[in-house]
Amino acid sequence: MALAKIPLARPVVTEEMVEAVANALRNERLVMGESVFKFEEEFARFIGTDHAVSVASGTAALQLALIASQVRGKEVVTTPLSFIATANAAVEAGATPKFADARERDYNLDPVKLKMAISPHVAAVMPVHLYGHPCDLDPMKEMCEKKELRLIEDACQAHGALYKGKKVGSIGDFGCFSFYPTKNMTVGGDGGMITTNSEQLAKEVAKLRDCGRVSRYLHDVVGFTSRLNTANAALGRIQLRHLPEWNERRRGISKIYAKELKDLEEVVLPPMGDKDITPVFHLFVLRARRRDELVTYLTKKEIESLVHYPVPIHLQPVYQQMYGYKEGSFPVSEALSKSLISLPIFPTLKDEEVKYVCDSIHQFYGGKQG
Ligand SMILES: Cc1ncc(COP(=O)(O)O)c(C=O)c1O
Repeated sequence: MALAKIPLARPVVTEEMVEAVANALRNERLVMGESVFKFEEEFARFIGTDHAVSVASGTAALQLALIASQVRGKEVVTTPLSFIATANAAVEAGATPKFADARERDYNLDPVKLKMAISPHVAAVMPVHLYGHPCDLDPMKEMCEKKELRLIEDACQAHGALYKGKKVGSIGDFGCFSFYPTKNMTVGGDGGMITTNSEQLAKEVAKLRDCGRVSRYLHDVVGFTSRLNTANAALGRIQLRHLPEWNERRRGISKIYAKELKDLEEVVLPPMGDKDITPVFHLFVLRARRRDELVTYLTKKEIESLVHYPVPIHLQPVYQQMYGYKEGSFPVSEALSKSLISLPIFPTLKDEEVKYVCDSIHQFYGGKQG
């Protein structure tokens, strides 16, 4: 079966969304227009927090949450298996990023390793709900409460995922989300959101994103120009309405992948969730033998795949230079980064396209001929 090229991700932009952007541009203030505040209200309601503050990107969300947590001169513990922005945000907030290894079971920060990384220098813990799969938050939250550390959830890949019946981003002191176009929902460009139940913390980050303003030309902290544009918020409001149905479709696609690939001994399927965990499959990530050859094979079949992430953060040249990390420091993340492969997943992906991807993987390993 020959199909058109299958991309890894494809954002949905409908006429209704384009119309909403046009309306916002015609009728509202272009910065801090009413769509921004409506989007924040609706997002907070969706996540189940008292407050949501929009910002210019997911990285800005993390950075401002960290600054409001007063981490300057301290350490922030996170996972080395994430997008580099997670750790960059700590550096940008004036802290030193410290890593604790991921665990094989769910690719997320290992609570046992995390505990071992805590010292009196640590001010905050920043787990990442990688690929849309919630972290094991209970032990982390308990430890943070005991040691009086801030818990900042990097939920940039996990809009709508549930941990023990609660949306991720509502459990820590802060939740941080990205609306980059390939995420489960977008604002039609860069954007981000910070969620929190604390009124005081919400005020703090709202001030930081808006030049440190107390009032129009009165500033009591050094802030940033890190607001979400009105037009982007208008588009985000409509995306948010579709998010539950899109996440459901992502779970449906994942089930097809799991069913079609379960008999292949060369691959390990991702965790599919259980009574405590409802993932949102931002990515569908396998562990695969001969991973790099598989990527090349799929490319020939017009199927896009990617590796998230081929180089763990501690081994990025800049992190090696700045902090002297060496190969072998975080063996689980390093081993995972050599076998992970992300397959196409997005709400408009068709069942037959998923099957074509699976047949191609079977062909590669010399099993079923498609
Ligand atoms: C886990 C994680 N953290 C942080 C970010 C940063 O988000 P943004 O690209 O919106 O700055 C991303 C996405 O790019 C991400 O996937």
